[in-house]
Amino acid sequence: MDVIGDPAAFARACDAARARGATVGLVPTMGALHDGHRSLLERARADESFVAMTLFVNPLQFGDPQDLAAYPHHRDQDLAIAAAAGCDAVFAPSQEEMYPAGAPEVTIDAGPLGERLEGAARPGHFRGVLTVVAKLLSLAGPCRAYFGEKDAQQLELVRRMLRDLDLPGEVVACPTVRAPDGLALSSRNDRLSAQERAAAPVLFRALSAGVFVIGAGERAGGLIRAQVADVLAGEPLARTDYVAVVDEATWDDADTVRGPVRLLAAARIGGTRLIDNVVARPPDATGTPGERGE
Ligand code: PAJ
Repeated sequence: MDVIGDPAAFARACDAARARGATVGLVPTMGALHDGHRSLLERARADESFVAMTLFVNPLQFGDPQDLAAYPHHRDQDLAIAAAAGCDAVFAPSQEEMYPAGAPEVTIDAGPLGERLEGAARPGHFRGVLTVVAKLLSLAGPCRAYFGEKDAQQLELVRRMLRDLDLPGEVVACPTVRAPDGLALSSRNDRLSAQERAAAPVLFRALSAGVFVIGAGERAGGLIRAQVADVLAGEPLARTDYVAVVDEATWDDADTVRGPVRLLAAARIGGTRLIDNVVARPPDATGTPGERGE
């Protein structure tokens, strides 16, 4: 497995792979790898003949300098996980290699969806994410890029960026990997105390309660949101940031559920902010299940 810091060398490695007839799979990460990242690497390994992981803690997407400073760095462990998952290359540039001219002046505007939900809680976050993802895609060249549904808004914005800017490449969505108690794996989970860790599955429980009421026939977005919020409010260690029910295709708030919707929630558990989301596909919203081919 090649570990590459120089952007031009990374671009050459991907070009050379394609010249040999390989398909390129790109798995962007910020390291501190866990089984969620591993599932992306394994999916890419199964689908592609050349798998490149990127490992870069992107300062542009952190609004809070303390959050950036607290971000875990486990480079050796991450490289071992990437190698064990069968990566062909890891692009792990320094900040200077990635942004030789300093913070970029030209950046990607994430549009209206970039201002909502996570974007409202973290101003500038998606500008930073899309700017670094655009750079990574531009270096990697035509590829399939693997993203986790754990960060569903990020995934949707990357899709929209590729669509709106005609960037080469294709996005592959990978399901959220969870602990047995439902908590979505995240590098932030390591910051939870034992008591907070025990409380954290409330996020998934709350979203599951929303899916349950949809299954039981509820179609009013406000009432579904209230159901999720009630479960969150029942956990004394949780402080809810937002609960949303959005149309899976448009990401508009779903006042009435008429098709697949995504339920999203963000909450602070102690000092740690966690996010999660699930999809609900009401069987009767468009007729018989599976009629929409989804
Ligand atoms: P990071 O948080 O390291 O996540 C890298 C990828 O792993 C993302 O696509 C994320 O959705 C996915 N992932 C994280 N936890 C997961 C889980 N429990 N199950 C499935 N997939 C999971 O997301 C980023 O980095 C950055 O914003 C990045 C895209 C690399 C740009 O800097």
